[in-house]
Amino acid sequence: MESSDIRDELTDILVTETRIQDKLRELAARIDEDYEGKDVLLVGVLKGAVMVMADLARSLRNHVEMDWMAVSSYGAGTKSSGVVQIRKDLDSDLTGRHVLIVEDIIDSGLTLSWLLENFASRGAASIEVCALLRKPDAAKVEIDCKYVGFDIPNEFVVGYGLDFAERYRNLRDVAVLAPHVYS
Ligand code: XMP
Ligand code: MG
Repeated sequence: MESSDIRDELTDILVTETRIQDKLRELAARIDEDYEGKDVLLVGVLKGAVMVMADLARSLRNHVEMDWMAVSSYGAGTKSSGVVQIRKDLDSDLTGRHVLIVEDIIDSGLTLSWLLENFASRGAASIEVCALLRKPDAAKVEIDCKYVGFDIPNEFVVGYGLDFAERYRNLRDVAVLAPHVYS
């Protein structure tokens, strides 16, 4: 891929940096209230959730711990394969923990449904999901997500942690990738 002006590779800005930050503060306030008196283990799903985790965690008032899991279900393409591989497992034991999975996006839902089943078998006291973005029209399985930032159209998006072929993660906004970039 040649280097060029990033803006030519995007169509719409779907969610601006300001809206993302406002929403994360709103979600953090709910999370603080819902988990009052409980120690939460935030589990970020690498690499996409790095930005969401950093900003959400810093908006929380209560004690939290953070852990990370890396799974892959996409390869370098834009469609979920549904076959999930663990690339990096958690460092923490989930027994008796209140786990809040932090995700960038729920697309088909296949990755999260696999993760939820996997975590349930490790004896967590509770498991909930916080996802910045969700594509309702792309759902292949229903995910019970307690904290959702924005429902977005079924288009491939990048920025704020989300990549295409490892690029665009550093954009501050969430934008639609121009089809000419990946087709
Ligand atoms: P699924 O389909 O299993 O998605 O819910 C799992 C993971 O795939 C990534 N993903 C995307 N990444 N733009 C991206 O840059 C997208 O539109 C997109 N949709 C899914 C993401 O990491 C998600 O957690
Ligand atoms: Mg992800």
